[in-house]
Amino acid sequence: MADSPRHPFLQGLSKHRGAPPTVVVIFGASGDLTARKLIPAVYNLGYDNLLPADFFLVGFGRKPIPDEEFRTMAADAIKEFSRRELNQDVWSRLAANTSYVAGGYDEKPAFDRLAAHLAAIEKKIGREVQPLFYISTPPSVFDPILRNLGASGLAAKYRGSPHQAKVVIEKPFGRDLDSAHALNTTIRSVLEEPQVYRIDHYLGKETVQDLLVQRFANSIFEPLWNRNFIESVQITVAEEVGVGTRGGYYEQSGCLRDMIQNHTMQLLALTAMEPPVSLDPEAIRDEKVKLLKAIQPLVLGPGGDVARAQYAAGMTGGKAVPGYLQEEGISPQSATETYAALRLSINNWRWQGVPFYLRSGKRLARRVSEIAVNFKRPPGTLFAEEGARFDLASNTLSFQIQPDEGLSLILNTKIPGLETRTQPVKMSFRYATTFGSNTPEAYERLVLDAMIGDGTLFIRGDETEASWKLCTPILQSWAAAGRTGMDTYAAGSWGPLSADALVAKNNHVWRQP
Ligand code: BG6
Repeated sequence: MADSPRHPFLQGLSKHRGAPPTVVVIFGASGDLTARKLIPAVYNLGYDNLLPADFFLVGFGRKPIPDEEFRTMAADAIKEFSRRELNQDVWSRLAANTSYVAGGYDEKPAFDRLAAHLAAIEKKIGREVQPLFYISTPPSVFDPILRNLGASGLAAKYRGSPHQAKVVIEKPFGRDLDSAHALNTTIRSVLEEPQVYRIDHYLGKETVQDLLVQRFANSIFEPLWNRNFIESVQITVAEEVGVGTRGGYYEQSGCLRDMIQNHTMQLLALTAMEPPVSLDPEAIRDEKVKLLKAIQPLVLGPGGDVARAQYAAGMTGGKAVPGYLQEEGISPQSATETYAALRLSINNWRWQGVPFYLRSGKRLARRVSEIAVNFKRPPGTLFAEEGARFDLASNTLSFQIQPDEGLSLILNTKIPGLETRTQPVKMSFRYATTFGSNTPEAYERLVLDAMIGDGTLFIRGDETEASWKLCTPILQSWAAAGRTGMDTYAAGSWGPLSADALVAKNNHVWRQP
């Protein structure tokens, strides 16, 4: 094994986190996500000695690919996308246990062949091997894959034991409440909930996990975390990139389905949920569901709680870029939003009256994901200059999820000098400065967690439905309105005016992070 300097993330991890012998089967093995994220994640877990000694990787896909060619594809993916260079020792060990099975997702005999392939692996090593099925295909084949996992007996393998079969399901999990419910119904017909790992890769991000630690391990925050002290919360997931080559997918999806329903809603749930009774996965997920259910239905239509827009041509990174309607694969009449903003009210004891603003979009000014908690201003009696407007900044605690992962707090400070004048200053903590920068990627953590059967960072069936319940009426109203009410924003800007109006209603403005 490679000489792997231990990242603080890993310290003390392996001793209580040993995964049983495991075979990871990737459905959609020649897909983009497999190359960019899954294979590099498995490789880096191997590099850090976090894979079990008996670890196997099986690619499954429609295209017939010889084992050797699949191994070459995997090595190329590591070279191109892994955070670490390809180390021959680590790779040789992994490559020796990497193979490929070809077959259609709706062909039961292909799944019987897969079952035989897994049985042969077990026979070779003389031990039971936990199967971890990773569904990383287009959603149109989720259903047949699940049914064939059931029909071939693979879904039930070792059920009830710690090394029972597990299934990881990529997003998108449905397109609306009905389809998500139907998918959950199929899942429940072949699997038990503890076998299911619905992925939202934002939950694997280091800063997102730190959110719970910051909230519940620091006594200075928790007493203030409510309507008495917090004025508003802004959650931003901004991207600089456009739709690129994913126009075909994106046209059918749009920002609300692609980012808001899952990633930003998860950030909201973790920010606003009640303290769980323990760190048990179910305890945390129970609190998230409760929170999602407490969000009031949104007011739709003009002047309501939602804004949507498409990017127009503009400048990004000093380069002129086309508008969404001019991108490859996009209909010139497209009614798909590339930006969405929501104003939410949470109808519970802790949050009544505190607006939560969510926004996400492509081709915004820069790539940044953050949660900004704005505290109420202190009474304006002491520091106002005579005749001048009282101008203290509100204390803002912001969790910067990416890039430059960290935490900052804005405080009002006296400007040195003979007069008492104030200025907001920023107190910052950066993970890279304190802990070094080679942090594991979200997918490493998530693949490892699924292997050891820890569902904390995955989404439960009722959670996804609670979020869809909130988002589906928005999608329906947009579908009915077509392009009417679709705003635009210049590529490289911070979004449309209609989103500014959404927060201005409460005398707020969006942060420019
Ligand atoms: C994915 C979306 O879930 O998240 C993409 O489908 C988006 O459209 C991506 O670009 C953003 O992820 P990250 O980790 O780069 O913020």
